[in-house]
Amino acid sequence: MFRRIMPMSQMSDSAFALGGNAEMLRDRHDAYRLLEKLGASERLLQHVRQVGEAADRLMRAYQQLGIVFDATMIELGAAMHDAGKILYPEELDGPGARHEPSGQTLLLAHDVPLEITRCCVSHGTWNRVEVSFEERTVALADMLCRGARELRLEQSIVAMAADRLSTDRQSIHEELNRTFERIATANLGYA
Ligand SMILES: [Fe+2]
Repeated sequence: MFRRIMPMSQMSDSAFALGGNAEMLRDRHDAYRLLEKLGASERLLQHVRQVGEAADRLMRAYQQLGIVFDATMIELGAAMHDAGKILYPEELDGPGARHEPSGQTLLLAHDVPLEITRCCVSHGTWNRVEVSFEERTVALADMLCRGARELRLEQSIVAMAADRLSTDRQSIHEELNRTFERIATANLGYA
């Protein structure tokens, strides 16, 4: 299930072919280009870049702890999770979840792989049992980059990380919690 532990420097080495055309979805830059093509505003692009920055910081902490994870999934999920706000721009600033299913539908219509499109929905429904560690990491990056702490989400990530390391939660909680706090207070902003 987990393709690799991927050093940040090699995060662009893999790619998802977008079916039906010649484009590839290799990294966040390809994802941003697709979002732009679909009509994303500069504000939306700024937001997903900030979520990407928060996700990078989480991935660095995971790497330092030796946690196995799919870096491409997290990188592309962070870039794509709010694609539905192209259709519902009012949800960039206000409440609403219409962008979640509509973002997935929009991306699927443009041949984005299903596993990436799941982040459109799961960043709002991360507490469902089937939501993966990678998808929860996207949801957490989305929260932390605007300074929000969601303890249940954080705890679920610590638990899943401990499982992957075959260790107890206490041994990694402190380190991960420090990372969460640093990101939340880094003022990455919310576009
Ligand atoms: Fe978001």
